[in-house]
Amino acid sequence: MQSEAITFHPVVIGGGSVGLLYAARFLLNGQSVELVTRSREQAALLGERGLSLYTLDGRRETVAVNASPIEDGLPAGDLYLLAVKQTAIAELLPLLRQLPRSARVLALQNGMGHHERLAEALAPEQRFYAINTEGARRLSPTDVEHTGTGLLRVGPWTAEPVRDPLIAAFVAWANRCGIRAEYVDAVEPYAWRKLLANALINPLTALFEIPNGMLLDSPHTLRLMRELFDEAAAVANRCGQKIDEADWQEIVSICRNTSRNLSSMLQDIRRHNRTEVDAINGYLVEKGKRTGTPVPLHETLLRAVLLKSGMETAKGEAAHDRS
Ligand code: PAF
Repeated sequence: MQSEAITFHPVVIGGGSVGLLYAARFLLNGQSVELVTRSREQAALLGERGLSLYTLDGRRETVAVNASPIEDGLPAGDLYLLAVKQTAIAELLPLLRQLPRSARVLALQNGMGHHERLAEALAPEQRFYAINTEGARRLSPTDVEHTGTGLLRVGPWTAEPVRDPLIAAFVAWANRCGIRAEYVDAVEPYAWRKLLANALINPLTALFEIPNGMLLDSPHTLRLMRELFDEAAAVANRCGQKIDEADWQEIVSICRNTSRNLSSMLQDIRRHNRTEVDAINGYLVEKGKRTGTPVPLHETLLRAVLLKSGMETAKGEAAHDRS
């Protein structure tokens, strides 16, 4: 196949769980990669200790990695995997604008809004998106654990007549390395479905401080989730999607399949990081307003998570001042 013959030079932007997972996989499969981190400290630690991946079968594999901080700019490459949170995209736009027209950017965010933001900086043929259903957890600045298998769906946001050879080569490479990936015509419908899953699971687990599976243990949380689903589905359908009962069942399965996982929002709250609630429930609230679709439950959850994350940050700062 033509795509298999093409080589690529990846740069992974982001030293969180997904960025470290992909950087480790590239390296462990003999593909060189440049890793760009937010902090100089993380880049230095990776340089000293290497990058360690804890595999699903319990092995620990460590490889040497070239890592540099974002303040040094973006290294040369042709395929940029954007593995940062939604909240970090705006500050990256000036750097992405400087990429050559031949470069491709593959954005791996949860939530929505990134496709609108990236359109401000990149030409249509440069922008690609991926929806990832795999699990990964960052254990330290240099260690990442692969916590669950899944599927990586990659493609343009809305259907394009011609497939991009570099992106096709990346998908072929991923499958050769045992990463289940497929090139889809349009990522937008998958992004909406992931948004709905995140909009139900993440804020509830963050507020109640429970693992994903515990949402299914009580009829009260299950009913609340269903009401949240109905509101979100109405917004998505007003935006041209076709969300139905099967999508509700899928969200219940995600909770079951990731039952022991702590959602990314709960992890952010515990680490006193800014959460992605604005790009998840906030996006639904915004689209609800624009389309005249009432979303009172999502609005309440949005405010509750913002309040909680503000309180946790204040607690963290107070503890820091006392120490
Ligand atoms: O954001 C997350 O944590 C995940 O995408 C998921 C599976 C919805 C909840 O753990």
